[in-house]
Amino acid sequence: MHHVIAESRDRERLKTRIVDDHERLAVLLADRIVSVIRERTVAAGRCVLGLATGNTPLGVYRELIRRHAAGEVDFSRVVTFNLDEYYPMAADSIHSYRRYMWENLFEQVNVRPEQVHLPDGTVARDALAAHCAAYEAAIGAAGGIDFQLLGIGRSGHIGFNEPGSSPEARTRLVTLDTVTRRDAAADFFGEDNVPREAITMGVASILGAREIALIATGEHKAAVVRRAVEGDVTPSIAATYLQRHPGATVYLDFAAAADLTRVATPWLLEPVEWTPAMTEQAVVWLAEQTGKAILKLAAGDYMEHHLSPLLAHYGSPGTINGEVFNHLREKIRGRARLPKGRRVLVFSPHPDDDVISMGGILRKLRENGNVITVAYMTSGNIAVFDHDVRRHLDFVGRAAPALGIDVGRVATVQAEVEASFAAKRPGGIDLPVVQDLKRTIRESEAIAALASVGLPREAGRFLDLPFYRTGEVRKRPVGDADIAIVREMLAETRPDLVFIAGDLSDPHGTHRVCKEAIERALATWDGTTPQRWYYRGAWQEWSIPEADVLVPLSQEELRAKIFAIFKHQSQKDTAPFPGGHDEREFWQRVEARNLETASRADKLGLPEYCAMEAFVVEGQ
Ligand code: F6R
Repeated sequence: MHHVIAESRDRERLKTRIVDDHERLAVLLADRIVSVIRERTVAAGRCVLGLATGNTPLGVYRELIRRHAAGEVDFSRVVTFNLDEYYPMAADSIHSYRRYMWENLFEQVNVRPEQVHLPDGTVARDALAAHCAAYEAAIGAAGGIDFQLLGIGRSGHIGFNEPGSSPEARTRLVTLDTVTRRDAAADFFGEDNVPREAITMGVASILGAREIALIATGEHKAAVVRRAVEGDVTPSIAATYLQRHPGATVYLDFAAAADLTRVATPWLLEPVEWTPAMTEQAVVWLAEQTGKAILKLAAGDYMEHHLSPLLAHYGSPGTINGEVFNHLREKIRGRARLPKGRRVLVFSPHPDDDVISMGGILRKLRENGNVITVAYMTSGNIAVFDHDVRRHLDFVGRAAPALGIDVGRVATVQAEVEASFAAKRPGGIDLPVVQDLKRTIRESEAIAALASVGLPREAGRFLDLPFYRTGEVRKRPVGDADIAIVREMLAETRPDLVFIAGDLSDPHGTHRVCKEAIERALATWDGTTPQRWYYRGAWQEWSIPEADVLVPLSQEELRAKIFAIFKHQSQKDTAPFPGGHDEREFWQRVEARNLETASRADKLGLPEYCAMEAFVVEGQ
């Protein structure tokens, strides 16, 4: 995908660097951290790093581990201070930031255990004030932080400095914001299990660092990033305080930068090159600003909205309007204009992304006589509730006599499973048999959903990629074994078209990892490169200018698609991980999103369809 980013940074109050994707961001940050470590160990005999947890820095830590293994960086004189820890929190809990840091970085580099510092989630409440003061003192004694790595929460927090935090705040106990607790609900198997409090370094402790890097990736961070970078300094977005620090830089992938003025509306900042894509972006924006259909945009509208240069470039509004309108109309592709008689391979990261994101086009492609395979990349087993396992086992027990199955055997398994549930802590790892049952539940749901869009059970393939098979929320990075499985799937199906989840912000980054596995498999396979169709998952949709293909759905087709989503019963009502502060079920979000795309197209003056799915297409 080609990205246009303006040079001008007039609106930006923080130094900001934008790179294409998460991987490049990880490399860039690791480069910087490695140089800081080298410079500071030479200059001061040690280097003090301030570190963050969460999803965002994982790539950076992996890259640092790789460089350490390659002998490029020595951590023996690195001192670390982590930003925060939940309170209360046992040190060995899978949720503790202490454990996260050891598993994701410290164990794999030569940092000395006595040089590592994290707030302690086990100290007694009456000892907390002393503990926090000692933490601040330790930072001071180490000579202050040389380089502070930060993520940003959707509440705008840095560390756990939630809305309302003062710029003078130091390390202390804080109450977590509702948004933060909801975002963490995914990791804790439910919001109720998320601790209400945390110990965090304060804004002042963070601003004391010599250099600060705030990193953000994924489209779900775009809105808060814009407020942090372009908004006024305000206690309601703690990240805005970074604007007061001369050594702070924000590092973004393209998705997280999408709402910045220089990406969203670069023509407001400087002269731009009026490529067809830029023209379309500007005209759609203008139509939405003025509430007018594209063909009704007049010279005055262009002039009043800083688009005189575009007008001058084309000569008259009629020419621009007509060109953009025709191009947008071309994007709309009903069944007659969709592929026929081709081989189609759909990659679905979890067992429901296919019907959620492309249930409409899937049916049309089947009707067009394409040969379709849907490859489910992960089992999605961690997202199944224990009570669903209980219910399915109960069914097996009751059906056992009719099926000629050993009733006693089923009862034994039931007893083992019940005992394991009783002993399990939230987020604890399931027994292997429970993991298998959860996987099977999702597989049978996926098959039922395929049937409901008219596909036979043989169309569904379950790859169960190894990176996901940890039994817990935390996953491994993509490995050769994953790529080999994807490559085999390509070799077996020799697709003309592949469908890929192109979103970057599902709660645990699984979509991003799956996309990486596909891209790496495509790069190393010797067959003909298929055309790539990217869909977005349950969280966000491609905008009309971004999309290359818009697939209209009738009311009945939208209903049929929703019925297919219903087949994923274990994810209905309250799925463990709907992600973000969106209370709606998946099908409701899909319905709203498909209706909205159609209604936006309608407002632009395009034909008025009931609903639409959107895709970005790359290759021939
Ligand atoms: C983590 C921390 C938080 C996270 C932020 C973003 O130590 O202090 O501020 O950096 O919540 O989290 P992710 O990266 O998971 O989106």
